[in-house]
Amino acid sequence: MSDQDSFKKIIAHAKEYGFVFPSSEIYDGLGAVYDYGPNGSVLKRNIKDYWWRAMVQLHTDIVGLDAAIFMHPKTWKASGHVDAFNDPLIDNKDSKKRYRADVLVEDHMEKYRTKIEKEVAKGRKRFGESFDEAQFLATNPNVKRNQDKINEITTGLQNTLGKGDLAGLRQLIEDLGIADPETGSKDWTDVRQFNLMFDTKLGSVAGDAATIYLRPETAQGIFVNFLNVLNTSRQRVPFGIAQIGKAFRNEIVARQFIFRMREFEQMEMQFFVRPGTQKEWYETWKERRMNWHRVLGFRESDLRWHNHDNLAHYADAAVDVEYRFPFGFKELEGIHSRTDFDLGRHQELSGKKLQYFDPELDKSYVPYVVETSIGCDRTFLAVLCHAFEEEDLGDGKSRTVLKIPPALAPTQVAVFPLVRKDGLPKAALKVFNDLRFEFSCAYEEKDSIGKRYRRQDAIGTPYCITVDHDTLSDNTVTIRERDAMTQERIPVDRVREIVRERVDMNRLLERMG
Ligand code: GAP
Repeated sequence: MSDQDSFKKIIAHAKEYGFVFPSSEIYDGLGAVYDYGPNGSVLKRNIKDYWWRAMVQLHTDIVGLDAAIFMHPKTWKASGHVDAFNDPLIDNKDSKKRYRADVLVEDHMEKYRTKIEKEVAKGRKRFGESFDEAQFLATNPNVKRNQDKINEITTGLQNTLGKGDLAGLRQLIEDLGIADPETGSKDWTDVRQFNLMFDTKLGSVAGDAATIYLRPETAQGIFVNFLNVLNTSRQRVPFGIAQIGKAFRNEIVARQFIFRMREFEQMEMQFFVRPGTQKEWYETWKERRMNWHRVLGFRESDLRWHNHDNLAHYADAAVDVEYRFPFGFKELEGIHSRTDFDLGRHQELSGKKLQYFDPELDKSYVPYVVETSIGCDRTFLAVLCHAFEEEDLGDGKSRTVLKIPPALAPTQVAVFPLVRKDGLPKAALKVFNDLRFEFSCAYEEKDSIGKRYRRQDAIGTPYCITVDHDTLSDNTVTIRERDAMTQERIPVDRVREIVRERVDMNRLLERMG
């Protein structure tokens, strides 16, 4: 099955089992806007909880914030979003489809990366145990040819995009012979800049209304509250402020399901540091954030760093954590050393002093900032892609299972009576009623036990408890584990403790070190 096919299956599965629905679907949906269903909303909450606890609860030098989505319009002038939050767009004259010009080039470049990966796979197969990947990458002529092409395109992008040279970017697309991915047409318009912010009016009287924006990032809510938090918490630089919330971007190309949405959620943390120490903190946060992804259970081979060659206007260093989605390695999280740009600009436009008096240095300064910024929806998608498996169980049997980390699973434990008679439902409900105070639980008595297991596998429930006739005499139940499908007999009065040990988010957090 190709990666594209498996991605289509994941999207269909997400809908069928109540994880993600297209927004306002009865009206045929709204482009790149999605709703989270009964299972999706719980999984999303658990992901946010894992991030919040890892960042705020485990760090005594980080505090939380919940700022409003609407902010004073000067915020976005100060941050540079009014003037520079643009994407270069291009239209295909034949298909009338609109694309991001830089994404067309990047996707073209990805083809060369895929060719390199295929060469490496062939090499590994040919040389077996003795395969030396580093040497192969450095010497294989096919790899070298493809790598040269990647380097050439990267330079082309830097020389055009980096300098705002839209005509040059258009020429690059032509020189590379890039065609409309859907129709193959090469008849392109010029490249134009397109501001991604949604605007609306504040106030009910048209004449009095002022244009305001739906925030395109949550970070600015943190910057404008820097003094409020400093003055009301017991924090001193270095310290961080964390926030989870909605952000809005009028994305030109909204593809790949919930990867690129127009309304999405970010989990951001700004860490305020003494100027000159930002590089050390940048390295520290890179390490901590990568560890967070590893503890979540993503495979090492599905994660990689991607350094930014074209730095945003506010950054002196920036790197992405990329995840291998079915459509290739793509950004999951950004870690940015944002200098004193944001606080400096807000100080300038507001006329308020946004400084910290450092008693050790006996002077005031505008702190520098290291930011970690991760999309909640992208993390959700990565968790789903990692978890989704179609397993052949032999004898013509198969199952679709979501191997979601137990601490994040929408339902952590399901309780079944083996049959709907002989007093088993009553005994099973007793177990269920005890568990539901502590865990997210399901109770099911319809259909065969096999069908009930399959339904729970499909939504990622890590444990199923079955109450049978023996339960009535020996007070034990069967606990069945989702991934290995093993079954164990355990005493009823130990169920809660055993489930807790296996699904508790604290176990994940403890591994954070
Ligand atoms: N404050 C910095 C900032 O917003 P960004 O790289 O533009 O940086 C950070 O966004 C993260 O937000 C990304 O790594 C991604 O996970 C998520 N994100 C950005 N745009 C998104 C979109 N249109 N849909 C879903 N997630 C998005």
